[in-house]
Amino acid sequence: MNANVRSGVRSNAVITAIGSYVPERILTNADLEKLVDTNDEWIVQRTGIRERHIAAECQFTSHLGVAAVQNMIERYNISITDVDYIIAATSTPDAVFPSVASQVQSHFGIEGCGTADIQAACAGFTAAIQLANGLLLSGAYRKVLVIGAETLSKITDYTDRTTCILFGDGAGAILMEASDEGQGDVLAVYSKTDGARGHLLYRSSLSSILGGEEIKTNGLIVQNGREVYKWAVSQVAESVNTLLERSGLTTADIDWFIPHSANMRIIEALCERTGFTLDKTLSSIKWYGNTSAASIPLALDEAVKAGSVRNGQQMLLFGFGGGLTQAGVIIRWSL
Ligand code: UT7
Repeated sequence: MNANVRSGVRSNAVITAIGSYVPERILTNADLEKLVDTNDEWIVQRTGIRERHIAAECQFTSHLGVAAVQNMIERYNISITDVDYIIAATSTPDAVFPSVASQVQSHFGIEGCGTADIQAACAGFTAAIQLANGLLLSGAYRKVLVIGAETLSKITDYTDRTTCILFGDGAGAILMEASDEGQGDVLAVYSKTDGARGHLLYRSSLSSILGGEEIKTNGLIVQNGREVYKWAVSQVAESVNTLLERSGLTTADIDWFIPHSANMRIIEALCERTGFTLDKTLSSIKWYGNTSAASIPLALDEAVKAGSVRNGQQMLLFGFGGGLTQAGVIIRWSL
């Protein structure tokens, strides 16, 4: 039965599975030294990044999303043929349309399933969790697949040393299901946007004006790193504190802090300003770089696979980036 017909019945949302995938090819700091005027020491000191994974020429974001979902299916021994909605968070879809979500639907042959991509840059995965939670709480849908997937290497300017050292490719996925019992796993949500500062970080293939200035139209990422850095350590820290306050929880109640992996120095500054300790913080920056909408599920799934994340633990996931967007969620891990 397509769950749409259940509209009006309220349920809770629980997370029932997770998977992830990164492409095989690795781009090291030493490789980047051959492309631009940079060095391993600078990259490690300023960003904490050592390697990133890069998609093959014929490998696109939907392929990475499919691989992450396949990984989830195999690990949890589940079928997803009754998923009734797929949300893919990405800034690097294979095409503007059809969506990545529709390509995942097609690959797994899921019938009677709604699909949509959302684009909230590095806040995409947490924004998608918020949307999936709303779909499940409304009672309109029973099983929602949430994917964060990126092939940022395809839109990275490998002549710009200030950005090309940062970005990598990868994908993560979680399954969220309606439950008619218990409390639900999404405990609190928070979003904020500063669209007036969108020109600080963009990717455009169309002629456009942002913040009163004509922007570059080469289809590659353009970033004012210093300004985005300042915004992240001040505004994002404030928002993490607001999310905690509104939830009625404190850092002591949170077992894992998972901020977007933009830069290790940003993560350290966020920890200092929010009171989280680094040993309670998960990141995917060191071996994967900044993978935008994929960075949070990659960090979370590494910890799940390592056995560090346990049933009943609470975690604060916070995405932030181009837009400038912010989206945070506090979840309980009930797997
Ligand atoms: O995920 C979405 C959100 N994005 C972010 O959060 C990114 C935020 N920004 C950053 O992570 C950092 O600003 C960067 C990593 C991009 C840059 O680090 P920074 O410490 O802010 O460096 P900077 O831009 O202040 O540049 C310092 C120096 C400059 O040289 P001068 O002017 O001091 O002589 C740069 O030209 O470092 C130079 N530089 C480099 N040197 C070696 C810039 N990039 C490189 C490089 N290798 N790759």
